[in-house]
Amino acid sequence: MSQSFADTSTAVESIEGRVIDLLGRMTLEEKIGQMSQLNVGDSYIHDYLADAIRDGRAGSVLNVVDVDVVNALQRMAVEESRLGIPLIVGRDVIHGFKTVMPIPLGQAAAWSPDIVRQGAAVAAREAASAGVNWTFAPMIDISRDPRWGRIAESLGEDPFLASELGVAMIEGFQGEDLAAHDTIAACAKHFVGYGAVESGRDYATTNIPENELRNVYLPPFKAAVGAGVSTLMTSFSDIDGVPATANEYLVRDILRGEWGFDGIVVSDWDSVRQLQIHGLTASDRESAQQAALAGVDMEMHGDAYVNNLAKLVADGDIDPADIDAAAANILRTKLRLGLFEDPYTDPARFAPIGDDRALDAAKAAALQSVVMLKNDHEALPLSVDELNSIALIGPLADAPYEQLGTWIFDGDRELSVTPMHAIHSLVHDKVDVRYLRAMETSRSRDTGDFDEAAALASDSDAVVLFLGEESILSGEAHSRADISLPGAQAELVRRIRATGKPVVAVILAGRPLTLTNVVDELDAILYAWHPGTMGGPAIADLLFGIESPSGKLPVTFPRMVGQVPIYYNQKNTGKPPSPDTIVHIDDIDPHAPQLSLGMTAFHLDAGYTPLFAFGHGLSYASFNFENLAISSTELALGESLTISVDVTNTSAVTACEVVQLYVRDLAGNVTRPVRELKGFQRVRLRPSQRLTVTFELHTDDLAFYGRRNRLMTEPGDFHAWVGGSSETELGTAFRIVADA
Ligand code: NOJ
Repeated sequence: MSQSFADTSTAVESIEGRVIDLLGRMTLEEKIGQMSQLNVGDSYIHDYLADAIRDGRAGSVLNVVDVDVVNALQRMAVEESRLGIPLIVGRDVIHGFKTVMPIPLGQAAAWSPDIVRQGAAVAAREAASAGVNWTFAPMIDISRDPRWGRIAESLGEDPFLASELGVAMIEGFQGEDLAAHDTIAACAKHFVGYGAVESGRDYATTNIPENELRNVYLPPFKAAVGAGVSTLMTSFSDIDGVPATANEYLVRDILRGEWGFDGIVVSDWDSVRQLQIHGLTASDRESAQQAALAGVDMEMHGDAYVNNLAKLVADGDIDPADIDAAAANILRTKLRLGLFEDPYTDPARFAPIGDDRALDAAKAAALQSVVMLKNDHEALPLSVDELNSIALIGPLADAPYEQLGTWIFDGDRELSVTPMHAIHSLVHDKVDVRYLRAMETSRSRDTGDFDEAAALASDSDAVVLFLGEESILSGEAHSRADISLPGAQAELVRRIRATGKPVVAVILAGRPLTLTNVVDELDAILYAWHPGTMGGPAIADLLFGIESPSGKLPVTFPRMVGQVPIYYNQKNTGKPPSPDTIVHIDDIDPHAPQLSLGMTAFHLDAGYTPLFAFGHGLSYASFNFENLAISSTELALGESLTISVDVTNTSAVTACEVVQLYVRDLAGNVTRPVRELKGFQRVRLRPSQRLTVTFELHTDDLAFYGRRNRLMTEPGDFHAWVGGSSETELGTAFRIVADA
């Protein structure tokens, strides 16, 4: 390499010096080349790709994971292009590479930054060993709509939880040293508002008022930028009439201007050219112009930039300084990644794929992500000593691929341990484990095997149904309008219920499903999401009480799809419903005057509560919360207070509880949510153990965007609650005063 590096005293200056030096030696075409990301797809190096790299017309490639091919491409860039600028190699490593962690929504249910960080670190190491140096994760789109297939990739509905976990995922991918051989650049996506697509239909329009945008959708991205995320990706969707990829207010003004982001902003797949399909532009030229002016540095898989930017500059329609800025963001990121010093990948430097560290991380994540939604009559845990036989029934008991979930381009199904296999290895010396798939897929409507299933259940001491959705029913472009258990699964539940046996269900799914039609037929429900490679052993340990469930819902479960969007941090409205004001459609008195129907914000057929609330999740242990204490009931702006609670494990089993802190601002400059999560801690308690859990709350933590979208913290009254779900009633109050 022949750069003349500015010899400056700090690393940052040194990188900036190198960026300036490089820019000074690059042609306009080479700068535009950096702004182009080419798809490799299969491992075939076609002439166009090779020529583009050698000629400096490609800054990045994606979708290549054969390390020899990656190194060959990198060699063309580093040794055969004029300036030797390395490629940055991207891949969707969303929840694992070969070893697959639970889907991100499942990881969010663990409410554990450690679990998320550890999973991402494993994914980074495995992906880096294949030559990947950039993942397109985390997806931190706030998701309040379970119809949207991509809710599976999200960290749930809450801005605080998604921010904390998004940051942890970035830390896991990027490590402490972005230039280390086993860390990769993260990408916070999709900027912004993608989770709000109308009716949950993927790619659809979003309409988000700016106040909502700032208070709900932007905070995880702001946190990601604060945590040093290397890159961001714009959303496919349009927002308030301007597709995100052309949205200069979002990218240039907020992201770069307000937050000072200086890494790469990449478009989504072909989303520059799609500006024309949106109806925003009339040509690729115009699309390139609008995206570049918005501040999108790199075009993912598309040729609007390479074909048009030079001409746009020549015609005076784009300032060359804008091209310099984009190229600088890309070069800076490559320098931070250490790609100039260490462009090639040597697989020998890495631990083997799927080693114990990887599998342990995957099992720990799966264990902590499973949420026990109900457990009547202590149907769980199962006891090996009390059973001679167990029937495992359902399409997802032994489906190594399906348990991995969406976005597992490289996931290795051979590494998967299914619940059926794990349960067999755990108990087969004492219990006769019987298995019947009963349905070919989760969508099957054929009930032909249901007699056999019922007979198997009747003849066994315990029954566990493995229900849910196969992986293809969630993810990108896999939205559903009906989010109940697909196919004949509800019928299967009824048939098994009719045997009189207690029925336990393990549900594997990529989204919250509406379970209203089966919930009363099931004695216990373990919601396992798509739990990944080690889902089986985790589920086996939970079913047999080796570990207690400890996951908590990161998203609200509706009773009926018509309630969507339903989320805990809603506004109160001027007519909030209460148990006294709601009437069920079946109970309407035909002679009553219309106005006797409560007149509050509820549905006649669904009420207003969810089936399972945000933060809900049961345990085999029981926890008592008491002695809620607040350090001060008054504080001035700029001060902090602490809220603490004693948590006691009143049961005979060791288990984890997630202690959650919620706050309500009673009167705001704009209306404020009825509750907002402001803190959480996962604690592990032995039988009878008591622990004091303390949260610190600064008045800045209570800041919000008010009228005219001004960030403010207001004097006034607040309520706070602490407990094991968003429905906790253990509360206290405090006041922010203008002057102490
Ligand atoms: C489209 C998806 O929206 C995005 O999330 C993904 O990273 C890219 N395709 C690349 O596969």
